Amino acid sequence: MKLFVFIVCQFTVLLTFAQCPVLPSPNVYKVLDQGGIFSFNHELKIDSSGLPKKSKQFLENWFAKFVGIQIHFTQHNADLVFSKLQNVPPHYYSINVNDQIRIQYSSEESCFYAVNSLSQLIVKNEDESYILKSFVSDLPNFEWRGIHLDVSRHFFTTTELKKMIDLLAFYKFNKFHLHLTDDQGWRIEIKKYPKLTSIGGFRDSTVIGHYTDQPRKYEVKRYGGFYTQNDLKDLVQYALDRYITIVPEIEMPGHSRALLAAYPNMSCHSEVKNVPGLWGVYEEVLCTKKGTLKMMKHILDEVMEIFPSNYIHIGGDEVMKNQWRTCSKCQKTIKKKNLKNEDELQSYFINEIGKYLQKKGRTMVGWDEILEGGLPKNAVVMSWRGFQGGIEAVKASHQVVMSPGEFCYFDHYQSNSPNEPIAIGGFTSLERVFQFNPIPEGLSELEKGYILGAQGNLWTEYMPDFSQVEYMAFPRAIALAQVLWSKNKGSYQDFEGILKSKHLPLLDHWGVNYAKALYYPQVKFTPAQNGINMKIDAQTPQRFDVFVKSNEVYGSMNNGMTMVAGDTLYFERTTLDKTVDYRISISNETLKNPIVYHVRNHPALNFEVQLMTKPNKRFSGQNGFTLVDGIYGKLPWKGSDWLGFDTNDIRLSVDLNGGKMLSGFKLDCLLDASSWIHLPQEIEVWGMNQDGLNRILVIPYTREKIDINGNFETLIFRVKGKDKIEMGQPGEGKMPWIFMDELELYFKD
Ligand code: ACM
Ligand code: ZN
Repeated sequence: MKLFVFIVCQFTVLLTFAQCPVLPSPNVYKVLDQGGIFSFNHELKIDSSGLPKKSKQFLENWFAKFVGIQIHFTQHNADLVFSKLQNVPPHYYSINVNDQIRIQYSSEESCFYAVNSLSQLIVKNEDESYILKSFVSDLPNFEWRGIHLDVSRHFFTTTELKKMIDLLAFYKFNKFHLHLTDDQGWRIEIKKYPKLTSIGGFRDSTVIGHYTDQPRKYEVKRYGGFYTQNDLKDLVQYALDRYITIVPEIEMPGHSRALLAAYPNMSCHSEVKNVPGLWGVYEEVLCTKKGTLKMMKHILDEVMEIFPSNYIHIGGDEVMKNQWRTCSKCQKTIKKKNLKNEDELQSYFINEIGKYLQKKGRTMVGWDEILEGGLPKNAVVMSWRGFQGGIEAVKASHQVVMSPGEFCYFDHYQSNSPNEPIAIGGFTSLERVFQFNPIPEGLSELEKGYILGAQGNLWTEYMPDFSQVEYMAFPRAIALAQVLWSKNKGSYQDFEGILKSKHLPLLDHWGVNYAKALYYPQVKFTPAQNGINMKIDAQTPQRFDVFVKSNEVYGSMNNGMTMVAGDTLYFERTTLDKTVDYRISISNETLKNPIVYHVRNHPALNFEVQLMTKPNKRFSGQNGFTLVDGIYGKLPWKGSDWLGFDTNDIRLSVDLNGGKMLSGFKLDCLLDASSWIHLPQEIEVWGMNQDGLNRILVIPYTREKIDINGNFETLIFRVKGKDKIEMGQPGEGKMPWIFMDELELYFKD
């Protein structure tokens, strides 16, 4: 009878699509054509007869604490009623708001999501709370909606992890991947191997600043911690109460320095080394001998005791194989098992673990390197080095969780502001996350079915406390939730609008230190006649105090000035061999710290540069202009101030404005081996004038200024890199990237 009434309502009431305040956006949201609201006095009367226990708990706790709505359970005159639907997809729910609120759901989980969406539909005023008369119909797009957190590089309390779980549940994530072990700390109590935590859980020092800074500085202070098995069991239950599965990760055979510090005999050469306080990838890995495999299986036994998750993550990424090459036991295994090389040895190790997990009824998950050399049939591949690993895994009939760095690495920078707190590098803005599609192009319908979903990763080298984790996770995690949940995610502009009007205030209310990048003024450097312009853009009319300081004694711009949003400041290029360095500081009362830019004015500023070889489109900046815009590529790199090429032979030409007498040049490139970015090997310079095009120089690459003479109209640079990254380095055997910025030219009169 109830269902009958429900159907009549749907067909007799006229509804119109409207913008929904709920994020991630439901599949369907319509408001009643005749308008109207359902209002109540901050107290919701609920008939709990059709309400599952976890949703009831959520209503009681969450509504009072975060929505500010009191709950009152009653059988009579209820505002909110529930009913279970049969024969609908397992995660479907609907909300009908008219003279009463009716939630219909297909599973306990979908009821939880319905209640959650309902909490976001409520508008609270001084006098009353209300919901627009409306209809919501919803179900998730992807099955794996995950966030990963590294608790090894930095350690967070279980209270903080619970706050994260609350936020993830609110945005309808259902997987929380805990990266429990790595080189810099072992964070899970294993009863059989107590030294894993007593020794492996603590380091004596931690690097200060970016790990590429020279000279390196360390904070010499014991740092660490670990979770007891009881802590973790409690956390598992807390997450399950919110329909989130915690997927534990135990890294092997790489990223194992903390384990090896505690049990050095598990390494190839039994060398005793400490738990390191420096980030990066280490040469020390687990030996592949029987004893190590046995230990890892014992560890996994205890892990499976704590975590009911079907999925157990075993890492498998960035394994340096040098030590295996010189280890008699590893070499013996290669012979005995008839393996071709160390790559197959890695595959052997992973397969042994995979078979063990399978025997225990669990499913192995690993980073995409585990594909190299074959895998147990049911293993799941997490594709982090772009989409390619995921595509190969799908073709080999493996299920895949997409987590490509360019969209899903929330340890990257999220804005160009020079004031972003230090991060590892890279650039993954909120909009970029929103644009992510976990399904790569070119897959068949069948192949698409292997993509379980995706995951955002929080590696915490540069997140020393939980407040910084919040800053890096939010609001990007909400954009990822939109990608993973919503079948129809809408436009980025609409998403940003809902975020700003409804969700960022919610995050403020809950005390979440989310990134304010959406509100930062934008400073842009653009080409201008014989020089460059600096423009300040802001979303609201604002005045800025701008102070430009230069190293010129008699410069004209040493004074402060006022600029309003939209104003530009012009820099005319210098001539001959003169360079001038400026420090530009932009401040006003809304900025916590001034925005500071360093600009070098040089004689090639805004010369016309043609990129005959195209940079990778993720790192193409403003194309040729980026090389001569006066803004130098910085370390750590943020992806926008460098031109990044995924090839080892790059050609570009520079127009010398009608012919000039050259005296020298300088081309700076980036070295960041951990990101597979290497310096070029060789540089060729060709000059064009009345005599035609001639090669004038071939030298090994250097970052120093090179003297060359000649009168040319056009210069052509050819920059060549290595074919392959050397063995023993991250990305060994792959072609390195080349990142460039900036190009300076000097002239004679
Ligand atoms: C990874 O980022 N090394 C999986
Ligand atoms: Zn070995």
